[in-house]
Amino acid sequence: MGLQGGRDTVLPVREGELSSLTVAGLSKAFGDARAVADLDLKVGEGEMLVLVGPSGCGKTTTLRCIAGLERPTAGRITIGNRVVTEIDQGVFVPPEKREIGMVFQSYAVWPHMTVYDNVAYPLKAIGVLRGEIHDRVMKTLRLVQLETLADRYSSQISGGQQQRVALARSLVAEPKLLLFDEPLSNLDANLRLQMRVEIKELQKRLGFTSVYVTHDQTEAMAIADRIAVMDRGMVRQVGSPRAIYDRPANTFVAGFMGTTNLLEGSVQEVTDAEAVVRTSGGITLRAIGARGAARGATVHVSIRPEALQLCPLEKPAAAANVWPATVALSTFLGDSVLYRLEVAGHTFEVHGPSTEVFEVGSKVTLAVEPSRCTLLIE
Ligand SMILES: Nc1ncnc2c1ncn2[C@@H]1O[C@H](COP(=O)(O)OP(=O)(O)O)[C@@H](O)[C@H]1O
Ligand SMILES: [Mg+2]
Repeated sequence: MGLQGGRDTVLPVREGELSSLTVAGLSKAFGDARAVADLDLKVGEGEMLVLVGPSGCGKTTTLRCIAGLERPTAGRITIGNRVVTEIDQGVFVPPEKREIGMVFQSYAVWPHMTVYDNVAYPLKAIGVLRGEIHDRVMKTLRLVQLETLADRYSSQISGGQQQRVALARSLVAEPKLLLFDEPLSNLDANLRLQMRVEIKELQKRLGFTSVYVTHDQTEAMAIADRIAVMDRGMVRQVGSPRAIYDRPANTFVAGFMGTTNLLEGSVQEVTDAEAVVRTSGGITLRAIGARGAARGATVHVSIRPEALQLCPLEKPAAAANVWPATVALSTFLGDSVLYRLEVAGHTFEVHGPSTEVFEVGSKVTLAVEPSRCTLLIE
């Protein structure tokens, strides 16, 4: 796809011109420290992949390597069918030749320029003809609903509008791939919620391929087609938001993506679908995800707070995984009640409905379906 030329351009990405992204064996060391360690990723055409992980886990470094702003220590990066980095072969396409758009946390909208000039800038930089620039800028501004503010200086618009200018600026040159690095971190909480819906809608409508970096698990789940959870330079799990949340592959992912109860125990029995685990405190429970678990192995079981059911002592809810418990803490949250429960030396966090509140000190029954108890061997 040529970025120049006088034809009328449909913004920003057309059918057949989307690009997939493949990252293979990517490593980046700074001195002795490995920021990215042998990382593999695939992003499909039109897909939004969210890279999520704690601060310092290597998200920005990964994104910068994809953009060509960082030269990796090893690895190959392919955008569409074009290899843009292959360290072994000495291939390294400079960032401005990669046809990517980037949106950063510090959105770096120039305050002394108008909204229009900010968005026109990348087109001028690549030598698009003057007559074509106007059409393309105005089309892009319409996309992000800023066309009426084109003549304002960007210092005269709100934070959310500035972020939209940054988005328009990254879209205007019709990138094959869009990279976002914590683009909403500088916005206040309400605006952040609003903008993530807008970005998601725009992505669905325009179908751009993108990698979106955030440290915020909720944002990741709300915006992603698929999520890659990173820890210490490595990808620990890739999957849909639901799969990552409901079926975490290891204790790191279970603990990082939302709140969970993690119980340590040893495997007593394994069948095809289930395992029986006995915890250090002496609870016996049935859990799924037993594949690969061996009898006698030390494992963890992850149970989400909302998967646990609380009932009065006399009427247990389920057949398996039912234990007597004592309410240690009860916090009314309006839409739900957050409990801390003591069961045989274990402490459980439980979310219950606010229609029935159990007082501190009451004896209750705690129950959970085996299908909502995930066995983790890592
Ligand atoms: N230019 C650099 N020089 C030295 N160390 C760096 C540099 N950039 C990043 N790092 C280190 O690499 C690791 C990953 O950083 P980064 O990719 O920025 O993480 P994240 O974006 O996930 O917070 C961190 O330990 C960070 O200190
Ligand atoms: Mg970062």
